Amino acid sequence: MTHMSEDMLPDASKNLLLQMTARRNVAPKRLVEPGPNEEQLNLIFRAASNAPDHECIQPWRFIVVPHNKRANLANAFVQALKHRDPNASQEQIDAAHEKAFRAPCLIMAVISDLPSEPHVPLNERLISLGCAIQNMLLMAETLAIGSGITSGKAMNSQSIRDLFYLTDHEEGVCFLNFGTVSSRKPARPRARASPSAFVSHL
Ligand SMILES: Cc1cc2nc3c(=O)[nH]c(=O)nc-3n(C[C@H](O)[C@H](O)[C@H](O)COP(=O)(O)O)c2cc1C
Repeated sequence: MTHMSEDMLPDASKNLLLQMTARRNVAPKRLVEPGPNEEQLNLIFRAASNAPDHECIQPWRFIVVPHNKRANLANAFVQALKHRDPNASQEQIDAAHEKAFRAPCLIMAVISDLPSEPHVPLNERLISLGCAIQNMLLMAETLAIGSGITSGKAMNSQSIRDLFYLTDHEEGVCFLNFGTVSSRKPARPRARASPSAFVSHL
């Protein structure tokens, strides 16, 4: 594979590379106010809408959790924990509750396996959602907004499914968290695999 020096890249490619390399997953507890404003959030969702989508079936959607619903989310997290572990300690219950109040902007990513004509398999639908999410994270990066993904055992618990009105054809995949980065973990440069580690030639 030929390797082009980064100095020789067109500006647009340089900028894209810069955003991609600068993005880091930020834990929700490190994401504080202000979150994205309405205009910025619109840009983030517009970025999502540009994801590739085989047969254009729109197999995913996002559900924003506003501040006035965080208490409901906290209760659903606690219910999920108690259902999973009836012996959960008060400390674990408090942690499950507190999780709902962290990032100023919290969004659930939902995938659908509703049959389509023509058929599009679930793995292709998930790729589309993953592309949408990456577009959102990169758009946030360009706006100097921090982002982080969270998931976990509660994701498709009955209490969470009920709160988000997920249909039988839907599953929550993860939460996206956006906000201002208050602090970063001490820099621990993440070793990125070189393309030779994941590319071969037939
Ligand atoms: C579907 C998905 C779910 C994730 N869930 C979590 C999570 O629950 N907790 C967490 O700390 N990070 C989670 N992450 C973020 C990864 O841990 C993170 O992307 C990885 O450590 C690489 O770091 P980077 O994004 O800064 O390159 C998730 C990422 C994806 C794609």
